[in-house]
Amino acid sequence: MKRVLNRSCIAALAIAITPLLGWSVRAEINRVRFPDLDGLVHYTTVRRGSVTEHIMTTPAALEAVKNRQPIPVGTHFVLVDYRDGQLYRYFVMEKSEGFGADYDERRRTGDWQFQWFWANKSVNLNENTARCQSCHNSQRGADYLFTAYRIPRLNGTPVE
Ligand code: HEC
Repeated sequence: MKRVLNRSCIAALAIAITPLLGWSVRAEINRVRFPDLDGLVHYTTVRRGSVTEHIMTTPAALEAVKNRQPIPVGTHFVLVDYRDGQLYRYFVMEKSEGFGADYDERRRTGDWQFQWFWANKSVNLNENTARCQSCHNSQRGADYLFTAYRIPRLNGTPVE
């Protein structure tokens, strides 16, 4: 009886663990590298309840948007997420040549890749960044960015 119980315990454990393994296999380290934050400019803030998001990018990207040019290769956008004033995590988008080719067409978001970094800059391995891409895909008309419209343009009002 004891042995039977043990065996069913093991079976139950295997059933419990399998989805966790499956999830961590789907999560990924991709080509996004954590940027040098000192080189970025904080251009807008989004507040929602206890959440404060500082959104930043490179001076070159700001210049490109201002001049209505495409965002240059090598650009990072970072959303620094604070909860009750404490640093919680960083959401990072990086654009680079060939980044889009890592994904099939349905998932691809131009040449952008996405990553979730914790406050200690380690990757959140429980995140499948397909989720990021799926939501940001709705912004394909604005180079996959939600807040680019907050960057001032030359000669007139912001687009979008
Ligand atoms: C359900 C939709 C949704 C998902 C999923 C999502 N985002 Fe976003 N993201 C937004 C919105 C909306 C904003 C604009 C800021 C705001 O309203 O909080 C934004 C802003 C950003 C920005 C600032 C640049 C910009 O587009 O304005 C970065 C960087 C970013 N997200 C990265 C990520 C990463 C990395 C993930 C996945 C770990 C992710 N996002 C998942 C909706 C989403």
